[in-house]
Amino acid sequence: MNQSTGNLPKSVTVQSPASVANLVCGFDVLGMSLSNPYDLMKVERTDATGITIRHTDEYQLPTAPEQNVAGAALLALLHEYARPAGFDITITKCIKPGSGLGSSAASAAGMVVAANHLLGAPFGKEDLVRFAMAGEKVASGVKHADNIAPCIYGGITLIRSIFPLDIVTLPAPRLFVVAVHPQIEVKTSDARQILRKEVLLKDAIKQWGNIAGLVAGLLKNDYSLIGRSLEDVIIEPVRSMLIPGFAEVKKGSKEAGALGGGISGSGPSIFMLCEQEGIAHEVEKVMQEVFNQIGIAYHTHVTTVNPTGVTIVDG
Ligand code: HSE
Repeated sequence: MNQSTGNLPKSVTVQSPASVANLVCGFDVLGMSLSNPYDLMKVERTDATGITIRHTDEYQLPTAPEQNVAGAALLALLHEYARPAGFDITITKCIKPGSGLGSSAASAAGMVVAANHLLGAPFGKEDLVRFAMAGEKVASGVKHADNIAPCIYGGITLIRSIFPLDIVTLPAPRLFVVAVHPQIEVKTSDARQILRKEVLLKDAIKQWGNIAGLVAGLLKNDYSLIGRSLEDVIIEPVRSMLIPGFAEVKKGSKEAGALGGGISGSGPSIFMLCEQEGIAHEVEKVMQEVFNQIGIAYHTHVTTVNPTGVTIVDG
């Protein structure tokens, strides 16, 4: 913590990736980082204290640090750094806010990784997750880490406990991820509000069987077990009602050979995991057909699991 910033870089650019929270059965505890899409953030350390935030995209996000996801995460970091520091931040978001693809987590995680780099890495990854969670609180009112952790650690992560934080990185076999983002709005806060506060024991048993099965499938490279475990009997039946075409996408994707999938985070994006790239492109076609038929505009992504998370591209 005593390191002087004199010899450290003054500027850094990071790529901060999209992520899929929950991975169907693991509500608030599992998450996966994606190779695409990603945001770009240029962060400069200034001589004066204070935080300036600029956006070069169309989303008109707030720029006051305490109202901005990246700003709130940075303030949490600086609170613990406890020495004067100032930053100019330029954010180019390519992950659409409100997509369910971890847009707010990308801003918060990218910010703290960049600032930590410019300050000589005084903090470890677990600290960075903790700071970035302050950004998630601004975005959705809740400090969840299932997008933040994969964004910072890369790959697939399990949040075994949030208070205190206990993050477990999981191996993943080669997987292709297909995501469709129908252009409808589902706010994370609303998608959490509608959930039942109690679950039936029989549903809980199914759910923890599936979470354990999914983790075991990832550890054993067992694609069939991964596919069988991508089942959510608690959250999906409620939230899927907010997403037109959900049932058709799921059924059609599985018929096209996807291992399985479901709602990405709190939606409205839907994702599917596939063992082969060719199947992933077939699944993308299914998704396109469903939303063309319904008449809802959409974006699709065919991508892979991102093993590294936030990446420094310059600085
Ligand atoms: N686990 C969170 C939820 C992720 O499903 O509400 C939100 O992106």
